[in-house]
Amino acid sequence: MQLLDGVLVSGHIKEQIKEEVIKWQSGGGKKPHLAAVLVGNNPASEAYVGSKVKHCEELGFDSTLLRLPADMTEADLIAEVERLNNDNNIDGILVQLPLPAHISPDSVINAIHPAKDVDGFHPISQGRMLLGQPTFLPATPYGIMLMLEYYKIDTAGMHCVVIGRSNIVGTPMTILMSRNGNPGNATVTMCHSRTKNLKDFTLNADIIVAAIGRPKYVTADMVKPGAIIIDVGINRIDDATKKSGSRLVGDVDFDNVAPLCSYITPVPKGVGLMTICGLMKNTLLAAQLRGK
Ligand code: GUN
Repeated sequence: MQLLDGVLVSGHIKEQIKEEVIKWQSGGGKKPHLAAVLVGNNPASEAYVGSKVKHCEELGFDSTLLRLPADMTEADLIAEVERLNNDNNIDGILVQLPLPAHISPDSVINAIHPAKDVDGFHPISQGRMLLGQPTFLPATPYGIMLMLEYYKIDTAGMHCVVIGRSNIVGTPMTILMSRNGNPGNATVTMCHSRTKNLKDFTLNADIIVAAIGRPKYVTADMVKPGAIIIDVGINRIDDATKKSGSRLVGDVDFDNVAPLCSYITPVPKGVGLMTICGLMKNTLLAAQLRGK
């Protein structure tokens, strides 16, 4: 079993981004500038956005963190997004999800200008991805593709089972893994919470992408020996042995699955770090396309 090491791969990609930013600036380009919008104070979202802003500093980007109250109206949030759309200094906009229940994420995402949609969530970005046109790919699937590429895993002809059908991970993963590219060219099955006999599918999988948001959902009896496991889950579970009283686990029962498989991503230090790489690459690209 080989660990797909998010620290190693993201470190390598971040060095590439840093070099590219320096090159871009020495040619007269301006620093990429990411605006992150955080509505309310969900602790997990606070941590994710904090990490994104910290990475901007590390890579030589500018960043703006816009903290907004949980009880704001949808119209006010859309007005903020439009203000960022019209701010010539801002290259990329991300609105951290989930949003408070009274705000429609679709309405807010639709308000982001596609040229600044560095999360790749806008219908224009998703439509272009579906058609195989150049665009901003959603950050997590993009990061997973970068990881497979780094380890030179040849996915052509493999059977890839994606568990989860969200717009931000499961659905785009099925598109990217089946496209005519490398990585890609896989035969893809999409499973989800209503799939019957999930094990019948996963036991036939050469690659499993677990993105269902349930702790340790993929167990050893569901995995074919030698399979490749990509764990997208970040779930907090109680753990009395930890000072904080909790710890993070993925959607895969790592301890029991790892000995069986050929490659596996850990949680933490796996896919989460790759999501940041996807976002940062998109932000640099947005700055370059806007600066042309
Ligand atoms: N919530 C969970 N993942 C993401 C992500 O990649 N981007 C945003 N904006 N929100 C998220």
